[in-house]
This record gives sequence, C-alpha cells and structure tokens, in this order.
Amino acid sequence: MGFNQSWAADAGALVVFASVASLDGQPMPWATYDTGQAAAHFTVQAHAAGLHTHQMGGFDRAAVGEAFGFGDDLAAVTVMAVGALGDITAAPEALRERELAPRTRRPIAESIVLDA
Ligand SMILES: Cc1cc2nc3c(=O)[nH]c(=O)nc-3n(C[C@H](O)[C@H](O)[C@H](O)COP(=O)(O)O)c2cc1C
Repeated sequence: MGFNQSWAADAGALVVFASVASLDGQPMPWATYDTGQAAAHFTVQAHAAGLHTHQMGGFDRAAVGEAFGFGDDLAAVTVMAVGALGDITAAPEALRERELAPRTRRPIAESIVLDA
C-alpha cells in the first residue's frame, strides 16, 4: 500500500508471514509472537545467504488473504521483500534519500529495564 507500491514490486520475492490464530478450535495466544520470531530468523538467514530484506506492515491484508485463500483462522501479519540490492542510483529521489540517509538506532538502555 501507499509508499511501498513505489518499490516493493521490484523485489526478487515478496514473502507473506501469516499467523494461525486457532488450531483445532483452540486459541493460539502466542501465534503472532511465533510469526514475528519466524520473520526475525528469516531475516538473519537471508542476510547470511547474501540477500537483503525489508519488512512491511503497510499492505492490504484483505487482498492478500483473498489471493492466498486464507480462511478465518489464518491472518497475514507482515510482508517481507527479499532479494539482491538493486541499483539505488536508478531509484526515484524520495527512495534514494531514504535508503542513503544515515541510520540511527534507539539506545538499548531505552528498551531494557535493568532494575525495578
Ligand atoms: C513490523 C514492521 C512493519 C514495517 N512496515 C514498513 C512498511 O510498510 N514500509 C516500509 O518502507 N518500512 C516498513 N518497516 C521498516 C523497515 O522494514 C525497516 O525496518 C526500516 O526501513 C529500517 O531499515 P534499515 O534497517 O535499512 O535502517 C516496517 C518494519 C517492521 C518491523
């Protein structure tokens, strides 16, 4: 959806990460957690194999569910673009600026409580 449409279609593959909300009538409360773990490990493995990844929450869930025939129990959580890096100099200016901008990461101390 939106901005993602300007670049995602060029990826080697778009991988849908989906969650099973219930199995045999039993709820799976950790389903989304499992899907996130699968996606996280997928990124590590892909990068180890020399590929690049870009995760997206901005996509049409209903359209993806319909395209893949997901029933009520299966829900798309994220989509990940996977592939080799393209030629950034050929990308539109907005994409180029974003890709080449220096990255900042939140300090780890802001995410971890060391004492209570
Ligand atoms: C759950 C999730 C959803 C995201 N959704 C989008 C998205 O829809 N479009 C997008 O361009 N980046 C999205 N991002 C951010 C990118 O995947 C990536 O983390 C960010 O661009 C930082 O990239 P960098 O590691 O190259 O700095 C999302 C990230 C996560 C974890």
